[in-house]
Amino acid sequence: MNIRRYVPADLDAVMDLFRESVRRVAIRDYSEAQVQAWAPDVPDRERWAERRASRPTWIAEIDGRLAGFADLEPDGHVDMMYVHPDHQGRGVANALMKTVESEAARLGLGRLYTEASITAKPFFERKGFRVIAPQTVSLRGMDFINYRMEKPLA
Ligand SMILES: CC(C)(COP(=O)(O)OP(=O)(O)OC[C@H]1O[C@@H](n2cnc3c(N)ncnc32)[C@H](O)[C@@H]1OP(=O)(O)O)[C@@H](O)C(=O)NCCC(=O)NCCS
Repeated sequence: MNIRRYVPADLDAVMDLFRESVRRVAIRDYSEAQVQAWAPDVPDRERWAERRASRPTWIAEIDGRLAGFADLEPDGHVDMMYVHPDHQGRGVANALMKTVESEAARLGLGRLYTEASITAKPFFERKGFRVIAPQTVSLRGMDFINYRMEKPLA
């Protein structure tokens, strides 16, 4: 597995992976209507491009193909952590989180925080995050339960 920084040419592959991960993995914990709202058929490409440009994003590759990606906002917010359905449970998210934590340490951040899906909550707990509170968020007309979680950094 290779971890590298995202470049704009990765945009379409990243958007595809996001949709696959939500539709095929998060469907374990959310309804069909919820995953359609979370990862619509036609994503807002410009908004995706802007968001990727506004923060570091890391790509995990296996055999030269995108296997997962994660990001880190300047205040310690981990907005995205998605692994391809065909590469679940092989340490891809572990490797991405290690990279995120190295960057957080380099920046001297005091904590990481995220809004974890039901699907991702056990992963974040394993990585030392604790639940601050469950919450209901609305997206494209659908309500979702997720968990505000944080991890203090040394
Ligand atoms: C959550 C997700 C990112 C985990 O990715 P992954 O590559 O399969 O995770 P890893 O194989 O690197 O596992 C890392 C650790 O978390 C643990 N873990 C991961 N998922 C787990 C689960 N559902 N239950 C218990 N432990 C879990 C692993 O056992 C492993 O523990 P270890 O460090 O002791 O070996 C992945 O399942 C995913 O993409 N989910 C769908 C998208 C999603 O909901 N993303 C988050 C949005 S907030």
